[in-house]
Amino acid sequence: MNKITIAIDGFSSTGKSTVAKRLAKTLGYIYVDSGAMYRAVTLYAMQNGFIETDYFNKDRLIAQLDCIQIGFVFNEALGFAEVYLNGDNVEKQIRTLEVSQFVSQIATVSEIREQLVLQQQNFGKDKGVVMDGRDIGTVVFPDAELKLFMTATAEQRAQRRYDELVERGDEVDYEDVLKNVQSRDHIDSTREDSPLTMADDAIKIDNSNLNLEEQFELVYKLAKDKISECN
Ligand code: DC
Repeated sequence: MNKITIAIDGFSSTGKSTVAKRLAKTLGYIYVDSGAMYRAVTLYAMQNGFIETDYFNKDRLIAQLDCIQIGFVFNEALGFAEVYLNGDNVEKQIRTLEVSQFVSQIATVSEIREQLVLQQQNFGKDKGVVMDGRDIGTVVFPDAELKLFMTATAEQRAQRRYDELVERGDEVDYEDVLKNVQSRDHIDSTREDSPLTMADDAIKIDNSNLNLEEQFELVYKLAKDKISECN
């Protein structure tokens, strides 16, 4: 059976990765969380003092891009691939609010985007991939057979993100999470290089009023229909 490429883009905290992970598992496809790659580069920049509040030494980070190795290793127990930065599992560290506060700035840098996009295209070269992000349907895989664009209100997305952080045991304030969601929306959609926009041939899914199960059923049906069309 021919495999297809599935691109899932959209605003932050729209539940893209939850649905993408489950879809990939159900279809037997590879799942790639492209946002995790931008987060890993951000963590590297933080660890090396290249980015702090009101300070970003872009040139030093660009000069060290070749020293940053990002990989995914499948964790059987969790059922998904975890992110590694230069050999260390950083899956937990990249999800903090601190990384979220810097990541959009890192993602504006064209030199970083170019490298990560090449890696992402390589992950998907044999098709059979579900990748989520901001520019997957527009830049990484403009020829993807199925493109989805997920959206929901900023308040609903902030509440979901807040619940996730609290569940992990992080001490956070809802207003800070909402501000972060709104600020990332703004930076992600207005940056010059590969801004977050919906591809012309993408299907828009507003999941404000869908629970996880309803959302998955909808996306799974779209994927099955597209796969049948391609076989
Ligand atoms: O999906 P996420 O929230 O983990 O992504 C983190 C940030 O990375 C997001 O604010 C924008 C950036 N990003 C991007 O610019 N392009 C992608 N394909 C994925 C993420």
